[in-house]
Amino acid sequence: MDDTKIQHQIQHGGNLVWAAEVAQCQPNQILDFSASINPLGCPDSVLAAIRSTEAIESISNYPDPNYTNLRKSIAQYHNISPDWIMAGNGAAELLTWAGRDLAGLSSVSLVVPAFSDYFRALNAAGAVIERVNNLQSLPSVKSKTMGILLNNPHNPTGELYRRSNLLPLLDEYQLVVIDEAFMDFLPPEQAQSLIADVEQYPNLIILRSMTKFYAIPGLRIGYAIAHPDRLKQWQSWRDPWSVNCLAERVAIDCLADTAFQQKTWDWLPSARSHLHDGLAQISGFEPQMGAANFLLVKSDRSVIQLRDVLLKQHRISIRDCHSFAELGDRYFRVCIKTSIEHDRLLSSIKQFVQVR
Ligand SMILES: Cc1ncc(COP(=O)(O)O)c(C=O)c1O
Repeated sequence: MDDTKIQHQIQHGGNLVWAAEVAQCQPNQILDFSASINPLGCPDSVLAAIRSTEAIESISNYPDPNYTNLRKSIAQYHNISPDWIMAGNGAAELLTWAGRDLAGLSSVSLVVPAFSDYFRALNAAGAVIERVNNLQSLPSVKSKTMGILLNNPHNPTGELYRRSNLLPLLDEYQLVVIDEAFMDFLPPEQAQSLIADVEQYPNLIILRSMTKFYAIPGLRIGYAIAHPDRLKQWQSWRDPWSVNCLAERVAIDCLADTAFQQKTWDWLPSARSHLHDGLAQISGFEPQMGAANFLLVKSDRSVIQLRDVLLKQHRISIRDCHSFAELGDRYFRVCIKTSIEHDRLLSSIKQFVQVR
């Protein structure tokens, strides 16, 4: 593969076809640290359900366009009315509709570095984007005609914004979109979700992804929580069956699997510290502790060579942060995985450091 193709990784992590092409192996031979997916894998209960005759037979029918059962399950899970919920083909689909709403405003504040799909969704709808470096540097004179799109916890830094810092935004902006794609990874007592506030604020939209926590990015499922009138409008914009029947079935089973949720909450903190501490011990690397299931790592030099060596010599994929304009080539992001996988990553990085 020529170097220009290697340079231009991708806008997203988890592109195993690209990684395998560079590493000259099969996609399933890549140890993927680039997409932030729960390494505990899709819950067993869910895999059993999706293999059932009933699930297989369901593909011969169209999905319920109202996703009644799924919305009921999500509603129960969050203790909110089903009218306030819309399922989507991943949070990515719902970002498209949030982007369309935001584009109707005078401008949209975006805390950067920001997930690249925000730019896709906002630019596609012609939104005027105002980049800000942190919540403190939001424009001091906010106009009621502005919107804001925020990620909590924030990708790629892992920073967790507290509810008390977010709630004032609801009085200052015409529309507040909070992408809580990684909030599931925090146990309820630590989460800083605004879902409990949504019924009081028609100008609040919450987006949730199920693909990371339940390790089902290939199935595509997420949901929005927002005022029913707004969701009716989104429904009128999109195609009637964006969520397939297997994704619907799996999502319902995932939400009911409290044992899996607890197992993930029990696993993550020590696993995150293990990877953080291992990286911090390698000269030239500075991992930033975050609240989600990934770490942003600063390097004292460009990480492009490291990324290529890990991929070509060790079949390990990390997420370089080239596509985050504010970070450039001295940062990479890695997801939290099992300790055996961390050890493989750490020893490969150490080997690289010794010979560079
Ligand atoms: C911050 C953030 N929001 C949303 C998404 C999209 O998630 P989904 O797989 O549900 O479309 C991602 C995926 O990487 C993400 O990082």
